[in-house]
Amino acid sequence: MRILTGVQPSGKLHLGNYFSAIRKILEYQSNNELFLFVANLHALTTFSSKNDLEDYTMSAVLDLLALGVDPEKTTLWVQSDITEVTELAWYLSQSITVSQLQLAHSFKDKVSKGYSPGAGLFTYPILMAADILLFSADKVPVGKDQKQHLEFARDIAERFNAQFGNLLRIPEPDIDEKTATIPGVDGAKMSKSYKNTIDLFATEKEIRKSVMSILSDSKGIEEPKDPDTSIIFQIHSLFLDETEKSSLKARYLKGGVGYGDLKKSLLEIIMEKFAPFRKRREELVLDQSYVKRILKEGKQKAKSIAEQKLTEIRTSLGIYRS
Ligand code: TRP
Repeated sequence: MRILTGVQPSGKLHLGNYFSAIRKILEYQSNNELFLFVANLHALTTFSSKNDLEDYTMSAVLDLLALGVDPEKTTLWVQSDITEVTELAWYLSQSITVSQLQLAHSFKDKVSKGYSPGAGLFTYPILMAADILLFSADKVPVGKDQKQHLEFARDIAERFNAQFGNLLRIPEPDIDEKTATIPGVDGAKMSKSYKNTIDLFATEKEIRKSVMSILSDSKGIEEPKDPDTSIIFQIHSLFLDETEKSSLKARYLKGGVGYGDLKKSLLEIIMEKFAPFRKRREELVLDQSYVKRILKEGKQKAKSIAEQKLTEIRTSLGIYRS
C-alpha cells in the first residue's frame, strides 16, 4: 500500500508535532511504501522571506531524517523538486468549483482573522490534491485539521475521473481522531502560533525554560496533587506505558513532591528519550552532502512516477505537446 503525506515546514518541530503526527507516520515505514515530502510550495502561502523558506525547508528535512525516516525504505523529497505537481494542480483546478473552495475551513479561518489572502491560499487545497493524486496514493495520514482538504482531493479525483476516464486513484483518508490534543505549557493545544511549545531540537537550556514554565496550581510540596488536571502529568505521560503511568500517578496522589521536582522528572525524560534524535540531527547538520544525496535520490524516484502519471493525464485532457 502506498502511504503519502506532506509536512509543511513551519519552523521548529515540537513535542505536539512528534506525538500527534510524526511518530505515527514513521510506523508506516516498516510495512508499507511511504512517500513523504516537505511541502515548501504550500509554505509559500504563509511566509515570504527567502531565508525563512530555505531554512525551514532544510530544517524539516533534517528533523524528519533525525527522527527516523529511513531513506532505504521511504521516498523523501522536497515538493518543489517535482514541478509536475504544479502543472497537475492547474488541470485539477477545472474539477472543483469556486464555491466549494470557499467552504474551506482553513481558508475561512485565516480570512476571519483579518488576513487578506492571496489566490494561492485559496487554491491551496488544489495543490494538495495534486500532491496526492500525482502519486496515486492509497492512503493519506493527516491531522484532523486536514480532513476537509482530503475530502476535496477525493471529490476532485472523482469528478476528473468521471469526465476524463479513470486515471486517478481515490485516496483513503487516514485521520487520527483518537489522538488526544497535546497540551502546551499553558494547557491550550500545543501550537507554534500560541507560543506554548516545547521544541524537540532546541538547546537543553531552552527546553528547561519551557518545561519550567508549565502552568500548575499552587499546591504546596506536601499536598497530594491531581494528575488528571496537571499539564505536567499529561505531557509526561506521553512518554510512558500504562504501568509507568500508574506509578507516576501514584507519585502525584501521594504528595510530598513539589511541582518543581515533577517538572525536573519531565525534563529528564524528554532529554533522555530525544537524545538519540538530537545527536543524529547534529550529525546530519555536519553531513549536508549526505542529506542532499538522499533528497536527490528521493526526487529521482518521485519524478519518474510523476512524469509517467502526468503524461497519461495530459493525453486524456488533449493537452498539446510538440
Ligand atoms: N496541508 C498539509 C498540512 O498542512 C501538508 C500537505 C501538503 C499535505 N500536501 C499534502 C498532507 C499532501 C498530505 C498530503 O499539514
